[in-house]
Amino acid sequence: MFGRDLIEDANVATLPAHVAIIMDGNGRWASKRLMPRFEGHRRGVEALRRTVRAASDIGIRYLTLYSFSSENWSRPRLEVDYLMGLVKRFVRNDLAELHASNVRVRIIGERDGLEGELADLLVDAENLTAANTGLTLIVAFNYGGRQEIATAARRLAEMVAAGTLKPEEITPELLAGKLHTVDIPDPDLVIRTSGEQRISNFLLWQSAYAEFVFLPLLWPDFDRSALEAALAEFKARDRRFGGVSEPTPPRQATSG
Ligand code: FPP
Repeated sequence: MFGRDLIEDANVATLPAHVAIIMDGNGRWASKRLMPRFEGHRRGVEALRRTVRAASDIGIRYLTLYSFSSENWSRPRLEVDYLMGLVKRFVRNDLAELHASNVRVRIIGERDGLEGELADLLVDAENLTAANTGLTLIVAFNYGGRQEIATAARRLAEMVAAGTLKPEEITPELLAGKLHTVDIPDPDLVIRTSGEQRISNFLLWQSAYAEFVFLPLLWPDFDRSALEAALAEFKARDRRFGGVSEPTPPRQATSG
């Protein structure tokens, strides 16, 4: 089908390779309906499921979802426990389908201090799907961008202290190679729902040249049409990467 192939090629060329989403507004979604916040999170998982399916179907290569920030520990204990339970249930219930759909799962964030059963499930999800070649689903869990950069800087400092690296050899590429996102291209598009216009410690280093789309809808209402609206907005943007002519993204880190 000659015509259709041409159209599909054109669409793929304008698709962002990596979409990252700050899933915000679960609590407000529930409050508006006089429901407990938990219900907003539960419905948020349904939106997450819809979004993974849609992204995979559309042909997005990398999808990062901000699921739990390092600051979210300050929420009431019951809410934190509920969110942890949701993640465990998600892995238990959805891992087989993700694997069957050729999705590769990566988890970014601090593993230290996570409850053992949860930490094991995250490792299981990564191991089972490691060889898959479809969508890479990156779950940012117990993640904080400043901590990630500080840890990377500490690793470089340790190499300098050990005499294996000279300070003048430190480059952005070298530092990027020490981040959780090594081997993952920088996000092209960052979406935040709920009308808030903040980055909230999410992919601080990696989103240096990302386009941002802020949507008014609350995360539990997010669906394929919302994703497509954000992709259309992205397509209309003029990305110059700090230059003036043909876009050339800055070099990515490729090794650990
Ligand atoms: C923001 O809404 C949402 C979160 C902090 C958690 C997002 C988590 C999920 C959607 C489900 C768990 C993840 C997985 C991987 C299954 P909010 O509570 O800050 O909403 P508000 O700003 O309206 O209060």
